[in-house]
Amino acid sequence: MTSSAIVEKAWWKEAVVYQIYPASFLDSNDDGLGDIPGVISKVAYIKSLGVDAIWLSPVYTSPQKDMGYDISDYRSIHAPYGTVEDMQTLINVLHDNQMRLLMDLVVNHTSDQHDWFKQSRSSRESEKRGWYFWRDAKIDTNGNRKEPNNWRSIFGGSAWHWDETTQQYYLALFLPSQPDLNWSNPEMRRATYDDMRFWLDRGVDGFRIDSMNLMSKHPDLPDGKVVNNEPFQDGSEFFASGPKMHNYIREMRTEVFDNYDCMTVGELGFTKDEQSVSQYVAKDRHELNMVFTGDIVDVDFGPNGKYERTINNIPRKIREITDLWQQSMPKFNGWNSVYYSNHDSGRPLTRYASDSPEHRAAAAKMLAMYLLSLGGTPFLLQGDEIGMANLGKDYGPDAYIDVEAKNYYISVLKSRGGNESTMDDVLREMQLKSRDHGRLPMQWDSSVNAGFASPKARPWMTINKDYTEWNVASQINDPNSVFSFWRTMLTLRKQYTDLFVYGSYKSIPESVMGEGVIGFERAEQVVGGKRAVVFVSFSEQKYTISTDKYVGWDVLVTNHRASVDNSCIELGPFGALLLIDSK
Ligand code: GLC
Ligand code: CA
Repeated sequence: MTSSAIVEKAWWKEAVVYQIYPASFLDSNDDGLGDIPGVISKVAYIKSLGVDAIWLSPVYTSPQKDMGYDISDYRSIHAPYGTVEDMQTLINVLHDNQMRLLMDLVVNHTSDQHDWFKQSRSSRESEKRGWYFWRDAKIDTNGNRKEPNNWRSIFGGSAWHWDETTQQYYLALFLPSQPDLNWSNPEMRRATYDDMRFWLDRGVDGFRIDSMNLMSKHPDLPDGKVVNNEPFQDGSEFFASGPKMHNYIREMRTEVFDNYDCMTVGELGFTKDEQSVSQYVAKDRHELNMVFTGDIVDVDFGPNGKYERTINNIPRKIREITDLWQQSMPKFNGWNSVYYSNHDSGRPLTRYASDSPEHRAAAAKMLAMYLLSLGGTPFLLQGDEIGMANLGKDYGPDAYIDVEAKNYYISVLKSRGGNESTMDDVLREMQLKSRDHGRLPMQWDSSVNAGFASPKARPWMTINKDYTEWNVASQINDPNSVFSFWRTMLTLRKQYTDLFVYGSYKSIPESVMGEGVIGFERAEQVVGGKRAVVFVSFSEQKYTISTDKYVGWDVLVTNHRASVDNSCIELGPFGALLLIDSK
């Protein structure tokens, strides 16, 4: 189907956002950890790529139990990353370069080291007791103390943790050190809004709102449905997109966001259906600019969890998800985010395409074309622009340090009697999906430590050894590199804004294209406007698509694995072709 409504223009619709994972971007002071001065020193590089905004993963003060998604003070900066002054410099430098900055706003939970939580746990009478979820224990038939409900933490184990001092449990949907804030408490909400203003007043241009739709829980905190013999069950039915969620967002918007020219993108977990998603982003609802639905980054998760094997046909799923959101978003006058990678996922190149030497460059270019020719606001992760890949198969479980994969690995290992030789299936899935891959240090050049840190520093995590070949320095001046391809696509997206950002979308069915190929037409929303067609292959196979529909259209971009003639389009492995009819 083709959409017809003409959409209102806005800077945040035309922006392309580059995600920086601060720990892994650039270390400026030899402590092995990336930092804000490191980011500042690379603004010129980021600008040269052609993106408009940076989304900076959390840099606030934090004990770093979950890499800064556990904040102990919203108004100061984790000392190893820098200072509030450094942030101000970054904001100013970006603005001087006509770029914007989005911060990560993590307010579903705090760190247990936040003053609010310290006060809250100090006594049942604390005025901050109600800022978190505190509940009495249940007592089972044998008189044993039990958690208030059966919810499983997103990182494994119970979501409830016993506090000796006050003899109650508190709720933490992620790590025990990340207690959930109780958004039904108005004082807590107001304090959070003040913290948001603190940064907006300093010039921050918006927020990526972490775990956004977990802020409203069902008031009774009912048990999750019991589906197996495990002690803890999925409670997301009762903690995701709860009854007050939209009230909170609207309040946040009128109290805070509407007073600034800022952009908001909410992380939407567990909520993926069209109807529910539309309620967050339909323009007349006055809520968020856009959301991350996560369907593409979750596409290879198994039926019972992330690290189970999936039987999905991945290109087909990507096509279905792309079609769904590209077609439905204009219907409710919402706006799409488009992305396939972030700090919570493996690298799309390895998961959905190929990082084998013969295909890697072509496949990375194909992914760039796919992302940058869709409608919506594209987000890429640092390193995507040079074709960074996952850690290879020769890295063992010790290379994986993130809590999520680690907790999972350890729990399965335990259930298998501690026998490492039985763990191949788990390791294989970690090699595809662990969050570590999205967090690998940036590969700037081929020197020791990849230019991420000085040769004498000890990097905080593994640097992928392929950096000697795959790095910025080797690509930046090469017109045929993956980096140059991204730059070309970004330039074209700017040149043809009405077509690529605001244009209509029409899918070409799988029956015409073949199983591994995604194809779609874009058109400016005016009579006689420009039209384009995109073919991207997520497959090692070759395809011949019989069609004479695009005869006379010009090749705008190709990764040289595709060609067009009078009767057909040929796509080689991971081929990518963008044709334009500019008559
Ligand atoms: C989000 C973040 C993830 C973090 C979690 C808890 O999903 O993207 O990195 O672990 O929230 O804050
Ligand atoms: Ca550093």
